[in-house]
Amino acid sequence: MFHAAQPVAFFDSGLGGISVLRAAVRALPHENFIYYGDSANAPYGTKTQEEILRLSRSVMEKVLAMGAKAVVIACNTATGMAVEPLRRQYPDLTIIGVEPAVKPAAEAYPGGRILVLATPMCLQGARYRELQGRFSDAAQIHPVPCGGLMEFVERGELQGEHLRAYLEEKLQPFLGQRVDAAVLGCTHYPFLRGAIAEVLGPQTAIIDGNAGITAQLRRRLEEQGLLNPSREAGTVTFYNSLEDDAILLRSKALLELPE
Ligand code: DGL
Repeated sequence: MFHAAQPVAFFDSGLGGISVLRAAVRALPHENFIYYGDSANAPYGTKTQEEILRLSRSVMEKVLAMGAKAVVIACNTATGMAVEPLRRQYPDLTIIGVEPAVKPAAEAYPGGRILVLATPMCLQGARYRELQGRFSDAAQIHPVPCGGLMEFVERGELQGEHLRAYLEEKLQPFLGQRVDAAVLGCTHYPFLRGAIAEVLGPQTAIIDGNAGITAQLRRRLEEQGLLNPSREAGTVTFYNSLEDDAILLRSKALLELPE
């Protein structure tokens, strides 16, 4: 049985899921959170489905051993490749996955041109293809695989020449055309929002799904009587498979960044 005072665990292939955690900490300030970044095995987005599933299972075991009452898979790639087998393996556990915010983007810009920036494996997966298929009549959706982009966040490089050159090259086919929205379909990318917005220009809305994920987490905890009733401020504890103090410091700094 799970108890309200237990922590909610978030995990990701690295530091990206901190963008989701940041929204959750602000919305649920009395919860205790654990964040596990698997930076030693990052990136997930260019690995095979089998590898991503194996790594996700191993992280899941770790956060459950730390006493998690619910788990947010704060990684689009791991959700796409592993959420269903993990839900089968842990049928009594609340497991919340994330997916690129195609639905809110298509609803906000009907008939519009929408880019979906995400990892190559996320975009190749059956879950993503099904999602895009559901909205392909509602908007023109263009997947943009961004292998190599999450590494900028892992290095703490959130702006600068190299990042700009990378983004200009990836987004080249769309520059100079009308783009209504860009969906940040990898949890690392909200930390690069400013750089992405600068390349795409002010006419393009930049959309992530973090508010929706937080709302879903609150609802699921409420339904199960698992919201922490404490009036004290909750705690956030970071773990990382790299076991390096620098990565833990970088994790804390990312949590403090304004949205
Ligand atoms: N943060 C991850 C996601 O949301 C992926 C980064 C990676 O490991 O390639 O897809």
